[in-house]
Amino acid sequence: MTTKTNEQAHSRDMAGLLFGDLWGYAPSPESTDHVRYAQRYGHFINGRFVEGKDHFPSINPATEEVIAEFAAADEAEVDQAVQSARAAYAGVWGKMKPAERAKYIYRLGRLIQENARELAILESMDGGKPIKESRDVDLPLVAAHFLYYAGWADKLHYAFPGATVSSIGVAGQVIPWNFPLLMAAWKLAPALAAGNSVVLKPAETTPLTAMKLAELCQEADLPAGVVNIVNGAGRTGAAIVKHPDIDKVAFTGSTEVGKIIQRAIAGTRKRLTLELGGKGANIIFEDAPLDQAVEGIIQGIFFNQGHVCCAGSRLLVQESVAKEVIQKLRLRMESLRVGDPLDKNTDVGAINSRAQLDKIHELVQSGIDEGAHIHQSTCNLPSRGFFFRPTVFTEVSQSHRIAQEEIFGPVLSVLTFRTPDEALKKANNSPYGLSAGIWSDKGSKLFSVAGAIRAGVVWGNTYNQFDPASPFGGYKESGFGREGGLHGLKPYLEVR
Ligand code: NAI
Ligand code: MG
Repeated sequence: MTTKTNEQAHSRDMAGLLFGDLWGYAPSPESTDHVRYAQRYGHFINGRFVEGKDHFPSINPATEEVIAEFAAADEAEVDQAVQSARAAYAGVWGKMKPAERAKYIYRLGRLIQENARELAILESMDGGKPIKESRDVDLPLVAAHFLYYAGWADKLHYAFPGATVSSIGVAGQVIPWNFPLLMAAWKLAPALAAGNSVVLKPAETTPLTAMKLAELCQEADLPAGVVNIVNGAGRTGAAIVKHPDIDKVAFTGSTEVGKIIQRAIAGTRKRLTLELGGKGANIIFEDAPLDQAVEGIIQGIFFNQGHVCCAGSRLLVQESVAKEVIQKLRLRMESLRVGDPLDKNTDVGAINSRAQLDKIHELVQSGIDEGAHIHQSTCNLPSRGFFFRPTVFTEVSQSHRIAQEEIFGPVLSVLTFRTPDEALKKANNSPYGLSAGIWSDKGSKLFSVAGAIRAGVVWGNTYNQFDPASPFGGYKESGFGREGGLHGLKPYLEVR
């Protein structure tokens, strides 16, 4: 813990930055009057909503209230979905003129734009993310993915010059809860553009917007069976992965489940892409623009409550500026507004589930027990729902669990370094390799460090920037295969 006098100096600075209590924010809740959803959902198979069984609740993590109930598909129901996808692939979608396929994918992108407001609210209600993020980041990117890949649908031969390309067949796709609609878009758009049909499973804590997307598939007149969405938890996901008539599996989620999937399909002809966990290094050199870097650090770890596989969860800061950066960081952290995800002023919303909150508590306790120093925002947390204070650990050593393991919450571990070489060694000292950030005024340093970091995505003087044209994916235990851009088409195509 820091000393008393440090704390006193810190609160003086705090008061300066926050203007005392003069500039409070009045509540600014987004209206939910116009959103529509059912109390009970089954599955979306062969273009129709079917009843299903073994319903389980999905709650609003900010209020702990049940939003709706969702069925859990068993092997027989997964089989129906796969059969429907196979029939649609063989009968309609696989044979359709690519320019015709493109029209449907464009239509889906346009319908998402038209319904963006409702979808953003439902995304925040079911998953806990701040409305300003679901509205301004998730939804625009979701639509952009469909529009981008729609553009490729009739140009696949130009995508891989000199090669012959064809679709693969039926894709089985299992997605996580941190970006429910965006992960659905990352999976569906390239698969459909390449001419495949799909069986998709959303995560069990955030299935609501996938069901709304199913409604949009109906509204777009997408031929029945091209997109099938089954609800359920791990058992349902495993049934998709194991189904013998699935040609390609795409998974985003934990490294642990990624390994189970890899073992499950070993020795089969199925193709696989895995997008797994991360422990991204955000490296601040002494010549960096420090105020901008602090914004990048905040974005990197507190965006979406830190439920981000590419989060900048390890801050590597050069020793000569460490004190200044940490002080600025603590001040800025104190100004984050934590609370109701539907309030337009909220910066940090609700933790997605009780289980995830427990995991964060456990790892944070391990940091304290192993001797790191904890600094937390002093904000008030709502009395109901799952919330966690923005947290920074200093005095972290590389062997600490909080430096090695993915916390997937609003918790940053700070380490220091003296030379670029040491920064690089520390950045690469991780079983993961998904993302990194580098902050420096010197272009040559940016490029040389970026080239030597074993991570799929490296940002220079920025963090968490996404574009559908840009490939995304991991090294090492962060998985393999790329999503986004041209690279993202390849796993869904036979390229000869
Ligand atoms: P998870 O990996 O269990 O869940 C992701 C998806 O996989 C869900 O749709 C789930 O129903 C499905 N699934 C679970 N077991 C399966 C199986 N045996 N076969 C097929 N599908 C299966 O992730 P979980 O438990 O929700 O989160 C645990 C940790 O994983 C988090 O704390 C975080 O560290 C990491 N994670 C990473 C994500 C990423 O984007 N890389 C996303 C979600 C979690
Ligand atoms: Mg939920």
